Amino acid sequence: MAITIPAGTEQIDYADLYARWERGNWSATEIDFTQDRIDWHERFSDEQRRGALWLYTLFFHGEDSVADNLSPYIDAAPLEEQKYFLATQQVDEARHAVFFHRWMHEVVGVGDGSLSNGLQSTQHELTWGHRTLFGRLDRMADELRRDRSQRTLVQAVTLYHIVVEGTLAQPGQHMIETSLERMDVMPGFREGMRQIAIDEQRHIAFGVKLLADAYRANPAQTQDAIVDLVREVLQYTLSVPIPPGWDTSYTESLGYTMEDLYEEGARANEARLRAIGLPLDEIAHFPFPMDITPRERGQRALAFLRAGLLGAGDGSGTTGRDPETVRTFFELLARNVRGDEVASGTTIQWDFKDADPWYLLINGAADKQAIQGRVSKPTVRLKLRWNDFGDLVSERAHPNRLVMRGRMRPWGDPRVLLKLQRLFH
Ligand SMILES: [Fe+2]
Ligand SMILES: [Fe+2]
Repeated sequence: MAITIPAGTEQIDYADLYARWERGNWSATEIDFTQDRIDWHERFSDEQRRGALWLYTLFFHGEDSVADNLSPYIDAAPLEEQKYFLATQQVDEARHAVFFHRWMHEVVGVGDGSLSNGLQSTQHELTWGHRTLFGRLDRMADELRRDRSQRTLVQAVTLYHIVVEGTLAQPGQHMIETSLERMDVMPGFREGMRQIAIDEQRHIAFGVKLLADAYRANPAQTQDAIVDLVREVLQYTLSVPIPPGWDTSYTESLGYTMEDLYEEGARANEARLRAIGLPLDEIAHFPFPMDITPRERGQRALAFLRAGLLGAGDGSGTTGRDPETVRTFFELLARNVRGDEVASGTTIQWDFKDADPWYLLINGAADKQAIQGRVSKPTVRLKLRWNDFGDLVSERAHPNRLVMRGRMRPWGDPRVLLKLQRLFH
């Protein structure tokens, strides 16, 4: 397997990342929040305070989680230079959590001044996506404690450095910085965010470098480990920035839309994965198409989330069964199905009691189509209602339970039926 690691990644050096950490040291306890307090209470509207407090709480708890979860990475990293850098990163994450906590307590008046009370007092702001994704990061740290194999380390770094830091945190920080600059408020908070962004850049560079090294050494295994992890956590990742009750005023009051945020996330995610060297356009079951723009990818993700085809399923009614969303979703299923695991000519039919039928025609790994309508003799057929289909594809419901409760009737070739779950994972 011929691989190409981008030149920018080849230049990243663990010792240099460490040296940059020494040079860039800053103090979270010395930032002056005097003006921030005035701005927060006098220049923010109620709506802006509500939106900002929710978003910054995601960061506060996120920083706390990454600070707590990094130590098994230090143990599992094979090189001394990697271990030393990760030790500096753990200090950074603690500093970031201290910074957000100070701001929460001194500017907003949250909690009694202790970190644990600050976390407790803001817990209720956390939304489903955040709890689920960071719950996975907790479990990943446990897995890495028990198993320091290359595959587990690669997946752990993908989740931590590429997904949490490179796809969610960094684009979110940019949005926050830009919106506060536009409003020209909270200079202390902005200074902290600027420093955090510089730290995060080093962390992400470290993750990209470690994964590129693993990819060079074991291309096929590393690519599989990364893609499997990205697929596994995709719907949780995409759910993190959804505001409570899908109320878009949480972001719009601060000057950016959900689409802006998702576009930035899609762009950042693609850039990180390409920096590792992964040939995204050639990976057969890579979970999102790269031939559309980051904004279009972001818009599709939002439409699937709103329709309950991904995530917690609490956004239904805003998009519902919009034909365009349904079509792009079946195209995504066709893209994702592991076509090399079934005979050429296999058809999978969905027969909905309350929506138009669709089927997939699979001719190997490279030729997979989603077609609206009924095929006369499908290889397998699933009869169910649209909402149960949404529960199924978003893993809110287990297929066996749907069958047992009579909500889904499967029919056809038992070998393919038994494999169905695996085909879409
Ligand atoms: Fe951080
Ligand atoms: Fe970080």
